[in-house]
Amino acid sequence: MQTVTLGRTGLVASRLCYGCWRLAGTWDPGEVTPERRANGRRAVRAALEAGYTFFDHADIYCQGVCESIFGEVLLESPGLRDRVVIASKCGIRRPGDPAGAPYRYDFSASYIIASCEQSLRRLGIETLDVYQLHRPDFLMDPEEVAKAFDALRRAGKVREFGVSNFSVSQIIALQRACSMPLVAQQIEISLAHLQPFENGMLDHCLSEGIVPMAWSPIAGGKLGDGARRVLPSQQEYRTEAIVEVLDAIAGERATSRTAVALAWLLRHPSRIVPIVGSIEPQRIQDATRSLDLELTREEWYRLLIAARRDPLP
Ligand SMILES: NC(=O)c1ccc[n+]([C@@H]2O[C@H](COP(=O)([O-])OP(=O)(O)OC[C@H]3O[C@@H](n4cnc5c(N)ncnc54)[C@H](OP(=O)(O)O)[C@@H]3O)[C@@H](O)[C@H]2O)c1
Repeated sequence: MQTVTLGRTGLVASRLCYGCWRLAGTWDPGEVTPERRANGRRAVRAALEAGYTFFDHADIYCQGVCESIFGEVLLESPGLRDRVVIASKCGIRRPGDPAGAPYRYDFSASYIIASCEQSLRRLGIETLDVYQLHRPDFLMDPEEVAKAFDALRRAGKVREFGVSNFSVSQIIALQRACSMPLVAQQIEISLAHLQPFENGMLDHCLSEGIVPMAWSPIAGGKLGDGARRVLPSQQEYRTEAIVEVLDAIAGERATSRTAVALAWLLRHPSRIVPIVGSIEPQRIQDATRSLDLELTREEWYRLLIAARRDPLP
């Protein structure tokens, strides 16, 4: 698979990232069965066979179960650890932990360090390649985060750091305090969610050498063959007009609707890395067809106009 270099650091990963959020087949650890774990391992193996070497995790994905399923695959595949780039995230805290606490964000140094250590344990590895802050903590103190990052790097627990769902100004504030460059920003980017093209985020990534990683690149399935489960913010997405143009281009180019939707992201000069979220082996493979498809400027704009639902000014 084509590759991408993360930031200015020499960390090389596959151009498509595989997202591990849905690996357990449920978001409730109480519903995880041996069969669901086996399905999750099958999805990871399918991604490996299709050439993905970049894997995205978070401590909260099925409350750690997704990391542990991935850890099982690493355990049964000697040498695999060195061939993959493993990213995880922290900073979102569940309600009731500790008792009475609300759902919240926590970028205190002690929480970042403890979360990282727990992710390493579940994955069964010594070092995370990329560690990202999941959602901006309203109480973020950049100096405190920078200290946590330094400590994790000095201890050999993390190679590179990044953020997720940050605004441009939040990235700038954190970067000023950090001794190392932030290498990745993970955000929702798709034909159903155009904000990063319009709010300066992709320009900032481009100018600072930060890799934009696109979560929900096919809008949780709404730009594919239908969504199983999406985030509340995605429930109202209207995608019929976009799908019509995706299908027209897919027909002209003899490829799939999903491949065109991903190729649309890949075409952007900021070198967006789509994070593919399916757990179906055939769909994980199908997504790689996007890499052989360079959309023309005209095709790209046809899709943009369908997505905007408004003519360009
Ligand atoms: N940083 C953040 O805040 C954040 C938030 C959300 C997600 N993420 C990351 O981004 C990754 C991707 O997000 P996502 O899962 O919403 O991405 P997505 O690729 O847009 O959506 C995947 C969903 O679409 C369904 N789907 C329907 N038709 C499909 C088709 N033709 N091809 C492929 N999938 C199809 C899949 O179902 P099947 O499994 O049945 O194929 C799956 O449920 C996550 O795994 C996670 O790593 C990060």
